[in-house]
Amino acid sequence: MTTPRPPHVHAVPAASLAQPRPLEQIVAGVSTSDGDGVKLTRVLHQTLQERLDPYLMLDAFGSDNPGDYIGGFPSHPHRGFETVTYMISGRMRHRDSHGHEGLLSNGGVQWMTAGRGLVHSELPEQEEGLMEGFQLWLNLPAKDKMREPWYRDIQSAEIPEFVTPAGVHVRVIAGESHGIAGAMQREQTEPLYLDIALPPGAEFAQPLPPDHNVLVYVFRESVFIGSSEIPTKRMAILANEPDADGVLLRAPATNHSTARALLIAGKPLREPIAQYGPFVMNTREEVMQAVHDFQQGRFR
Ligand code: CO
Repeated sequence: MTTPRPPHVHAVPAASLAQPRPLEQIVAGVSTSDGDGVKLTRVLHQTLQERLDPYLMLDAFGSDNPGDYIGGFPSHPHRGFETVTYMISGRMRHRDSHGHEGLLSNGGVQWMTAGRGLVHSELPEQEEGLMEGFQLWLNLPAKDKMREPWYRDIQSAEIPEFVTPAGVHVRVIAGESHGIAGAMQREQTEPLYLDIALPPGAEFAQPLPPDHNVLVYVFRESVFIGSSEIPTKRMAILANEPDADGVLLRAPATNHSTARALLIAGKPLREPIAQYGPFVMNTREEVMQAVHDFQQGRFR
């Protein structure tokens, strides 16, 4: 079956790999709540920060019960890293202490550099219906942790997309894939952030340097990595083998509909990580300073 390709979706040749990375671990995540009672699954939690350096956290949220999300995330601070919020479905209003405001909606991304610190709120702008998405925390190198805060709202239409000969449809949020540059680039950590839709039976190959850490989070149907089937709502961590040249995903032919997965990779910073809640620095002293500065009202 072929469907017409929208003009903004690039057609690309397939990539191939000589030696795909093996699966290392499947992670279920932990059900928790954050902000004002928002139910979510913390897929990448603190115990995996060293393993998945430069990533510090990945939360998945998804519910059509307003009670699970309506409270949103009222005013709270951040310092020392970047937050990347990807909205699959729903509308969220963002406001920060520097006067920035934006609306994040279906398919859009907000990329925020907390830097030396800001206070912001993220509140649903809907009272019913499905709210689904992800928040990823990307660490900043020590030299950039105290830079000026910055943010960008990326509307869905601004995210480059491509389709492979196998019919795999890919949205390139960050980095570069199959010659298509994503919406965001970062020099130090080289983040790659893809949303990949695989029809039943289709394969997708993504070349990657062996030292970059990579996770795959499946959120529709299931995906094979080697001979292991990764079910929906599970994160796969792939091994960093020196001879491996990338990641190979394959949707089982028995899937009833299109599988969908996030592929997130990056170059590790290999710097010490000191976290206390929304503050992520390199040393305990810097974290204590962040708490003090916040309490003194210096995050503006
Ligand atoms: Co926040």
